[in-house]
Amino acid sequence: MIEIRAVTKTYDGGGPALAGLTLDVREGEALAVLGPSGSGKSTLLNLVAGLDRPTEGTVTVAGTRVDELSETALARYRRERVGMVFQFFNLLDDLTVLDNVLLPAQLSRVPRRAARDRAEELLGKLGVLGHARAFPGRLSGGERQRVAVARALMNRPPLLLADEPTGALDSASAAGVRDLLAELNAEGQTMLLVTHDTVLAEACASRTIELADGRVTRMVTR
Ligand SMILES: Nc1ncnc2c1ncn2[C@@H]1O[C@H](COP(=O)(O)OP(=O)(O)OP(=O)(O)O)[C@@H](O)[C@H]1O
Ligand SMILES: [Mg+2]
Repeated sequence: MIEIRAVTKTYDGGGPALAGLTLDVREGEALAVLGPSGSGKSTLLNLVAGLDRPTEGTVTVAGTRVDELSETALARYRRERVGMVFQFFNLLDDLTVLDNVLLPAQLSRVPRRAARDRAEELLGKLGVLGHARAFPGRLSGGERQRVAVARALMNRPPLLLADEPTGALDSASAAGVRDLLAELNAEGQTMLLVTHDTVLAEACASRTIELADGRVTRMVTR
């Protein structure tokens, strides 16, 4: 599903954030990426998400060379092929929970009725349907992260990317999000998870890699 070949990413005025990285993620696999701060984890995720381009090397997702897509094609790729969950949720505070989840479908012009059914099904499955009409600011961190996961899954992306999804959560909320991600992977969702949370990595990932200075220093398969 993901094929990363000899990828180097250098930002202006710095050493390489990624240094010749080669990595594969199979369909249905959950890969956890661990490593100290500054080791290149978010950089890796951003390249796979098409939010940034490699300086050298290639990034292929489900047969598409993401590093070569035009800006227009990238916008569509991000909307339809990947779902992203961030450490700090990135929900829109002026929209209700339901409207936040509906947003990706609206951008993709999914008929309103079908989109609503899907959004409500996801919110129900994630245990936050009761908050559909509320604004995100009134929800707990764990609830907000569940809404963010629902939004990420709205357009049925083949790939779910998460950057520290439990990083900002208390332990009870983190446990809920961990269970949720483990369940999704059990259902066959391909995932790339960046995390400092080794419990999360063990709960849902079949393989763990560790980055240091933009290179893979350890790979553990369970
Ligand atoms: N937009 C940017 N401009 C310049 N340097 C950057 C940029 N983004 C990342 N870097 C640098 O690239 C390196 C890797 O950063 P990255 O954000 O990928 O680390 P990380 O492993 O996600 O760290 P953390 O655990 O703190 O989130 C760091 O040295 C960082 O300073
Ligand atoms: Mg990071």
